[in-house]
Amino acid sequence: MITLEVNGEKHELNAESDTPLLYALRDELALNGAKFGCGLGQCGACTVLIDGNAVLSCVIPISMLANRKITTIEGLTKGGKLGVLPSAFIEENAAQCGYCIAGMIMRAEALLRRNPNPDDNTIRDHMEPNLCRCGTHMRILKAIHRAVSTSAAIAGTRS
Ligand code: FES
Repeated sequence: MITLEVNGEKHELNAESDTPLLYALRDELALNGAKFGCGLGQCGACTVLIDGNAVLSCVIPISMLANRKITTIEGLTKGGKLGVLPSAFIEENAAQCGYCIAGMIMRAEALLRRNPNPDDNTIRDHMEPNLCRCGTHMRILKAIHRAVSTSAAIAGTRS
């Protein structure tokens, strides 16, 4: 039995310790936002956060995740309200087929949590491991810039 903390909730899983996190999320917890792309740690479709860092959930066994905080794309929605990044991706029409988008958002989320105002080169470098076969990279970049601006505006209204 392994306990995983996902999106602030603890779950007891009866799964083999070498089960990849992606399989546990999708098959055991019905959290289907993270996608299976390559299964080899090469595409980023399965990206989630572990303790705030972007990781490829297809290559992380659940045995490594005791006492770690896992966040999936579902965790960016609070009380039915989309978070700033998912909203920005929708507003910029960043998805074409959409398969990579949850992973893209989670990688961007990891960046904005530690650097709320990254410049364009920083965003490009950070997003580099995640692939989009439709080629919507420019819209994805615009969406991340939009999220940065929106977050700054929200912070401004609070100060
Ligand atoms: Fe995990 Fe491709 S499915 S990196």
